[in-house]
Amino acid sequence: MTAFLLNDWDDGPAVATPPAQAPAPSPAPMADLQAGILESRAPIGSSTMPAGEQALARTLAQPTAGLSLAPINPEDKRVVNGKADINQLAPFKYPWAWEFFLNANRNHWTPLEISMAQDVHDYNHKLTPAERHVFENVLSYLTTSDILAMRNIGLAVMEKMSAPELQIYQARQVYEEALHTWTYQHCIESLGLNQQEIYNRYRVVPQIHGKIALANRRLNAVLESGKDLTDRDALHEFALAYLFFAGVFEGCWFYNGFTPIFALQRRGLMKGAAEQLQYIMRDEVLHCAFGIRVVRQLLQEENLTLDPAALRRMWDEAEAAESAYAGYILREPILGYNADLHRGQFRFIANRRARQLGLAEPFPGAENVLPWLDEQANLRKEKNFFETRVTEYQTGGALTWE
Ligand SMILES: [Fe+2]
Ligand SMILES: [Fe+2]
Repeated sequence: MTAFLLNDWDDGPAVATPPAQAPAPSPAPMADLQAGILESRAPIGSSTMPAGEQALARTLAQPTAGLSLAPINPEDKRVVNGKADINQLAPFKYPWAWEFFLNANRNHWTPLEISMAQDVHDYNHKLTPAERHVFENVLSYLTTSDILAMRNIGLAVMEKMSAPELQIYQARQVYEEALHTWTYQHCIESLGLNQQEIYNRYRVVPQIHGKIALANRRLNAVLESGKDLTDRDALHEFALAYLFFAGVFEGCWFYNGFTPIFALQRRGLMKGAAEQLQYIMRDEVLHCAFGIRVVRQLLQEENLTLDPAALRRMWDEAEAAESAYAGYILREPILGYNADLHRGQFRFIANRRARQLGLAEPFPGAENVLPWLDEQANLRKEKNFFETRVTEYQTGGALTWE
């Protein structure tokens, strides 16, 4: 297992201890950098100084409002409310965030690379009406969820971060959420589903709407920019909203949300769509792990303790919404999968997220009723089980799978 346990595609119960950070080397004093430009030069405005250098020298000679020319100290960086220059990537305070960015770029793919031909046949000739109901409604929920995820991370979360190494991973995450939406759209188009009907389903099916409405309510609370996070109540609200997004919305609802289609895949059905979802799941495992790590860092830096009653309410609301959703999409069980399995796995994964966050388990005693799900996340696939391309597509030698 690598030191960056939460920073690969392994989704397990343990929490990594951040590695000790080596002291950052002292940067060259800014005065020296300026001197390197200014010294031994003709006076500003002299006809012997090139025009470009004259402009730069004038800029450096100006008092710069709000920007210190002193080198940054990485220890001044904060998750929020930081004062260090937001445009200067290194020296890092959070090197793990940069590692997340590098790892994310090793899972580059597009939905066009995966054949959906067999899925068209399966959908039209092999799936039962109950299986089609499951497939379409899962897709319908996911399409709406990923748009919401893109907007939340890009518009609500990212702008509040005050360290560039955090923002740069989140910029990649915004792109990945858009890619996920493209993937669902590609599945919908490939199968010839009615787009109007699929996309509007969350508006007319209360059990799908319930999850989206809950997420909107929790995330809208932090959507506006310019929120004053030096205010402790506002900070608590933001921390709880980001925790919900990473730990529940991505960490439970997405993580567990693909399982009905994976259950079809295990029987050799809808393997193209399932492989698409495996790529998405690999991204989502990173999104969840990153978000959880940021929240832990935030709580530590700000010496913030979350209100236990607010956390309890969050878990209860999430479970109620997920339970109703499971009851709808699996109103009839399909071979190898049913609503109670879905609900049980939600509780089991919720406990894992809570442990990763350093919180008490919300559903003590919940069992791992779908032990194959983690295999799916970690892509330790059996060759006769999935297509072979997924793991082979992995690039770079830095990742470990155990
Ligand atoms: Fe996503
Ligand atoms: Fe995500």
